[in-house]
Amino acid sequence: MNNKVPTSTQTLKGRVYLITGASGGLGHTTSLAMAKYGATVILTGRNEKKLDALYDQIEEAGYPTPAIIPFDLMQTDEDIYKQFIQSIYNEFKQLNGLVNLACYMGIVGPLGSQEHSEWQKVMQVNVNASALMSKVCLPLLQQSEQASITFISDSSARQSNAYWGAYGVSKVAVESFSNILADELEETSVVSNVFIPGPCILPLRKKTHPGEEDLGLNTAEEVAESLVISVLNNNFDTHLTH
Ligand SMILES: NC(=O)c1ccc[n+]([C@@H]2O[C@H](COP(=O)([O-])OP(=O)(O)OC[C@H]3O[C@@H](n4cnc5c(N)ncnc54)[C@H](OP(=O)(O)O)[C@@H]3O)[C@@H](O)[C@H]2O)c1
Repeated sequence: MNNKVPTSTQTLKGRVYLITGASGGLGHTTSLAMAKYGATVILTGRNEKKLDALYDQIEEAGYPTPAIIPFDLMQTDEDIYKQFIQSIYNEFKQLNGLVNLACYMGIVGPLGSQEHSEWQKVMQVNVNASALMSKVCLPLLQQSEQASITFISDSSARQSNAYWGAYGVSKVAVESFSNILADELEETSVVSNVFIPGPCILPLRKKTHPGEEDLGLNTAEEVAESLVISVLNNNFDTHLTH
């Protein structure tokens, strides 16, 4: 874990972050943590009930008022993604970061037994949609003095071991996408990074490690805090060693 502690002056006040997968385990805790550090968070996902509950939690805590924009990442039309970002521009006139937390796991099992439709779904949500979302966010992010795009990988899935299937491939793909993008953006105000949570107590972990004891695993809150500290320090290196 990233154990750097933010200084009291480090804050995300006045900054606007788009968080995909905000209705999920890590998306929920990350949105809360970013809001706690003063960010205005734009919550997206499909489950409006969960997004509404998160919105209320942020409001009740007295953090900056968030926004909810439901969006299905199975959509492939670039114009729809551009309209989505246009609606953010219309309301906020700025975007300082994109955190790609949406994820679809699909089936963990032998490649030969995977339905191709499941494979495509995993690739669409985890790779294609996060790549397209990053692309359409870039013009707005580049207007900011300092901006970031964050992708999420998985310490186990990236090992390319048996049975990690489309999910495993998708995690290696987003790491590669992020590295290429980071290289291309080197001379700009936007950075692209990969955050690797490591073993942690989240809904997805229950699917990949059924029956595992939670003992010793990081909590979702600890991981979210670490992710936010990485964004604040613009340093994600510590996670790549998991
Ligand atoms: N759990 C772990 O131990 C662990 C370890 C390493 C890495 N990670 C990574 O951490 C990230 C988050 O994991 P998690 O446990 O928080 O996952 P999760 O609870 O399953 O959340 C997944 C999120 O993705 C969204 N999503 C899925 N399909 C979508 C679609 N078609 N359109 C829009 N949103 C969609 C879901 O939104 P809706 O429900 O609203 O559709 C949900 O908000 C993943 O990238 C995962 O690989 C987790």
